[in-house]
Amino acid sequence: MPDYADSRTLAEVEERLARSLPLVFTGEIRTLRQQLAEVAAGRAFLLQGGDCAESFADFNEGTITDTFRVLLQMAVTLTFAAACPIVKVGRMAGQFAKPRSAPTETRNGLTLPSYRGDIVNDLEFTAEARSPDPRRQLRAYSQSAATLNLLRALAQGGFADLHQVQQWNLDMLRASPQGARYRDLADRIGETLDFIHACGLDAAVAPQVQQVQFYTSHEALLLGYEQALTRRDPATGNWYDGSAHFLWIGERTRQLDGAHVDFLRGVVNPIGLKLGPTADPDTLLRLLDVLNPDHQPGRLTLISRMGADQVETALPPLIRAVQREGRPVIWSCDPMHGNTIDSGTGYKTRPFSRILDEVRRFFAIHHAEGSYPGGMHLELTGQDVTECLGGAQAITEQGLADRYHTRCDPRLNASQSLELAFLIAEMLKEWRREIGLAGTVPATNNAP
Ligand code: PEP
Ligand code: CO
Repeated sequence: MPDYADSRTLAEVEERLARSLPLVFTGEIRTLRQQLAEVAAGRAFLLQGGDCAESFADFNEGTITDTFRVLLQMAVTLTFAAACPIVKVGRMAGQFAKPRSAPTETRNGLTLPSYRGDIVNDLEFTAEARSPDPRRQLRAYSQSAATLNLLRALAQGGFADLHQVQQWNLDMLRASPQGARYRDLADRIGETLDFIHACGLDAAVAPQVQQVQFYTSHEALLLGYEQALTRRDPATGNWYDGSAHFLWIGERTRQLDGAHVDFLRGVVNPIGLKLGPTADPDTLLRLLDVLNPDHQPGRLTLISRMGADQVETALPPLIRAVQREGRPVIWSCDPMHGNTIDSGTGYKTRPFSRILDEVRRFFAIHHAEGSYPGGMHLELTGQDVTECLGGAQAITEQGLADRYHTRCDPRLNASQSLELAFLIAEMLKEWRREIGLAGTVPATNNAP
């Protein structure tokens, strides 16, 4: 937790947050849990993505709309190509707090606290900017509220109507191979809609065609903030965290006896648990006991982030332990955080080829283990940034400098995101075809 020098202001801020409206509501959380239970059963797929870290400076309608739009494009690609419902969750409207491996950073002999996300301190390298300021939590709260307001309007106000599928293509993609491929797919969806219309079936599909359900998520790292936004549902007596629909526990804070695990076991939101290469099967099972003692499907998503070169040794023992105990979990793949490298030109980057490698191996491993590869967790943006190497645009090490805008980790840009979605759609389609042919359901389905 940050070291706040001004504990009185911190207490005032938390008290104000505790009196504020929650950003999300119990009915939505319940619906998301039901939809995630469908994912756990192998009947739907989870797509979770957005910024590594949202920022106060980049906050505007354009960035939010573009990220939402690329997520919609990816979701429709997956839905259509793999004939599978997609549960859409943004790393948006609250993804502000960042865990850091080192508490301090030294530049030219000057040592200052590390940047911990805009909700805690500022990126600028001065003592004043880097000192944690509790009032930033209020700004993060109001930015999250405004972001959610826009997301709700985009999801339900006509923008996400499937008849607009062609318009979602971002301007910057129009001339690219990904854009052309997307245009073809959108044409086929348009024909399908015309066919449905001609059959007089409009009414039966209308609500699903005209709007989407879109959920928010972030890492539940800054516990004072999370706790201040936690409310008791009068109808059920359950506690829920009103800061986002879905919250996850990061790789650095998943200690069994740690505060983050203790906090999240007490709220009914669906939660995620990041698993890096050091996660061991016994500890994982004990974490499952604590976080999902009733074995409820849809409650817990395990997000593996092993790195392309470690996933084959690190992931199978975890899957086997979960299978052996018959625990209902969603297995999601974060191919970003285990594949970060130093570019040699001073930029932290991720090669698209390694990201894709981890995704491929994730599918292959689950196939071999007879479990369901149920989701993707990605850091991406709808902007045309140059932060990850490669992809069809072939971004080079020299090219990184052109538009490297992230405040934290390198993100896939719109073109790379869509390219990845087409590749994942193929793998998912293949997986579903084989399962269909074999007539079996994932073993995780047979949970108590
Ligand atoms: C993140 O998701 O931005 C993150 C810090 O991930 P991890 O906890 O897996 O390192
Ligand atoms: Co990150």
